[in-house]
Amino acid sequence: MTNAFNTNLSQEVFSSAQRLMPGGVSSPVRAFKSVDGDPIVFDRVKGPYAWDLDGNRFIDYVGSWGPAICGHAHPEVIAALQEALEKGTSFGAPCELENKLAEMVIEAVPSVEMVRFVNSGTEACMAVLRLMRAFTGRDKLIKFEGCYHGHADMFLVKAGSGVATLGLPDSPGVPRSTTSNTLTAPYNDLEAVKALFAENPDAIAGVILEPIVGNAGFIPPEPGFLEGLRELTKENGSLLVFDEVMTGFRISYGGAQERFGVTPDLTTMGKVIGGGLPVGAYGGRREIMSMVAPAGPMYQAGTLSGNPLAMTAGIKTLGLLRQEGSYERLESLSQRLINGICESAKQAGLPITGSCIGGMFGFYLCEGPVRNFQEAKQTDSERFGKLHRAMLEKGIYLAPSAFEAGFTSLAHSDDDIETTLKAFQASFYEIV
Ligand SMILES: Cc1ncc(COP(=O)(O)O)c(C=O)c1O
Repeated sequence: MTNAFNTNLSQEVFSSAQRLMPGGVSSPVRAFKSVDGDPIVFDRVKGPYAWDLDGNRFIDYVGSWGPAICGHAHPEVIAALQEALEKGTSFGAPCELENKLAEMVIEAVPSVEMVRFVNSGTEACMAVLRLMRAFTGRDKLIKFEGCYHGHADMFLVKAGSGVATLGLPDSPGVPRSTTSNTLTAPYNDLEAVKALFAENPDAIAGVILEPIVGNAGFIPPEPGFLEGLRELTKENGSLLVFDEVMTGFRISYGGAQERFGVTPDLTTMGKVIGGGLPVGAYGGRREIMSMVAPAGPMYQAGTLSGNPLAMTAGIKTLGLLRQEGSYERLESLSQRLINGICESAKQAGLPITGSCIGGMFGFYLCEGPVRNFQEAKQTDSERFGKLHRAMLEKGIYLAPSAFEAGFTSLAHSDDDIETTLKAFQASFYEIV
């Protein structure tokens, strides 16, 4: 594929896009800036594959940044959507599909007794912060360095992902007053959290975190970290919020909270629960969720929230995931992939550290261990850029940033993994 790799049409379209949209994209990390290249413009996706405008086929480990856990354009999801489409694209009124998806989420996710649907992960996190504050009557929150909770002002502090990739410490346009209540601590550092609670008695509404960090690469919580946060928040009358926009229904059917056996007060979700359509959700204990309008006084609303097409895709996707063996399959694919990647890098004499859980994996081009964002930054980003390009030329589509987790799907076959590992093996030798 290397010699035949031609991206002329992608380049042409991206060049026009740059005149039309800031940076030529609708979301920053898509622009390939941190891997020093131009993006591939997609034409279509199916199963584990994406095709670009030039006809190149890629084995895709981005999966639309998470939603495509059953593979792209799963025939059952598409069929359900076609049927739903006939009934209309938006109701702006209650629909039974909302009940169905809500029941599925409540049944699956340990912390969730009631749920509110919104349209994106950003919206879910924004609303959950308002709810934390409304319920506790406190203003401050603790977040962790390298955790991303969408692009709302109060979370744009040490926010990993695209922000890290572009080297923006905080975004201009975010007033100091908006982030003055946002306290940060290094991930996996309970002592730092304890100190923040001690310095801010009775002022902290809650602690929000990615229970596995996927926006600073891939950082699992160390044993005791999530449990410690549970205890600390309880002791201090604060709420614990798991942002499971990425990990929800990807780590296990009940998310990271089920996998680690730690139950937060509130949870945000997105990505997988929309099956590829725009959805977010937040939910938690009935007592807290009852604060949300119109049941309670905390205002939050949305024209397209609970959209029938999005609900349909979510219901179908969760139904597919609920089938016996889904998560064992995802984990075994991720495990084979990450073991093979680490082995090949070492054979080529490159430092690497990597791990995976469920349908999520990640590696850093450094010795490790990587327990927080500071340590993640030791990865060789320049070398990752070269690796990314070498893999692209061999038909493998990885996230275009050293600080993003990778995703496997139920559509990836053993042969896809084999092909991917061969491409890694060759690419590591090319970038030594
Ligand atoms: C953990 C986490 N929270 C929130 C968000 C924001 O979600 P969205 O991009 O749907 O607004 C993301 C997006 O990647 C995420 O990974």
